[in-house]
Amino acid sequence: MSAPALVLKTPAKINWVLEVLGKREDGFHELALVFQAISLWDELSFYRKDRGLELSIVSSPTPLEADDSNLVLKAARLFFQAAGLEAGTRIELKKNIPLAAGLGGGSSDAAATLWGLNRLYETRMPLEKLQTLASRLGSDVPFFLTGGTALGLGRGEVIEPWEGTVNFSLVLVKPEEGLATPKVYQSGKAVLTRGEKARELKSLLQTKDPRVVARGLFNGLEPAAFSLLPRVESLKNSLLEEGALGALVSGSGPTVFALVENDEAAQALARKMKPQAAHVFAVQTLSEGPRIIS
Ligand code: C5P
Repeated sequence: MSAPALVLKTPAKINWVLEVLGKREDGFHELALVFQAISLWDELSFYRKDRGLELSIVSSPTPLEADDSNLVLKAARLFFQAAGLEAGTRIELKKNIPLAAGLGGGSSDAAATLWGLNRLYETRMPLEKLQTLASRLGSDVPFFLTGGTALGLGRGEVIEPWEGTVNFSLVLVKPEEGLATPKVYQSGKAVLTRGEKARELKSLLQTKDPRVVARGLFNGLEPAAFSLLPRVESLKNSLLEEGALGALVSGSGPTVFALVENDEAAQALARKMKPQAAHVFAVQTLSEGPRIIS
C-alpha cells in the first residue's frame, strides 16, 4: 500500500471552567468556558485516491462506526464543498481519546480533518474561513484548529486564544459509561452563572501555580453529570482524597480531571486510580493544536 500523504495527531481537551449563562432561542446554551488542549492524541492519516471519500477506523478504545454520522466524514465533505474540489481521499483514524467523554475527541478529529485537508490540497483557506466551517460541525470544533488555552464564548465557537500557559500536570479518569451531551444540557440541573469565573481564570493561570489554578475550577454542568451518573461524583471524591489539588468534570462529562503538582505526582495518582475506572491517563497541558507527524 502507498505511504500516507500526511499524518497528523490532534489533542483532546479539558475545560478549566465551563459556565452556562442561559438558554438561547436556537436551543443551544450561551456559554463562557476555558478550553485547554492536553497530551492525549488521536491520529489521522490522509491518503490520496482517484476519487471519493473513505474513512477507516484503525483502532478505538470504544466501538465507533465509520458511517455518515462520523464527524471526520462530515468535515471532509464540508471542506471539499467549500473548496470547490472533487474529493479524492482516504482517511485512517486511530482513536485514543475515549468517546462521549467530555474530552472533545470527535470535535478534535473534525478540526484536524479541515486543517489537514487545507494543507494537503494547498487551498490556503485562512483561519477565519476554517473557523466558520468548523462551527457548522459542532460548538467545540473551532477551538481545536488552534488548541492551546482559549476562552470560548457564544455556543463555545467564538474563540479568544490565551497565550503563555505553562505546562500543568493532570490525571484523567473516565468510567466505562459515556454521557450524551444533549442529555446533560437538557437535564434541568445546570447551574447558571454570569461568566466572571471564566474570565478570572486568566490571571490564575498566569501565576503558573497549580494550587492557585485549582481554586478557579468550575463547571456549571457538574451537578447534571453527577445526577445522571452518580459514579462520577465518587470518582471526583476519590481523586481529592488521594491528594489532587483540585478535580472537576470536563465539559459535559463523564471524565473527571485532577490537577496535581507535577508529572511525577500525576503518574503516582494515575497508578492509584487504575483499579477504579475503565480509562485513566496522566497527561500534560499543551500550547498547540493539531501537529504534523509526517
Ligand atoms: O454543538 P454540538 O453539536 O457539539 O452540540 C451538541 C448538543 O449539545 C447540542 O445539540 C445541544 O443539545 C447541546 N449544547 C448546548 N449548548 C451549547 C453546546 C451544546 O445546549 N453551547
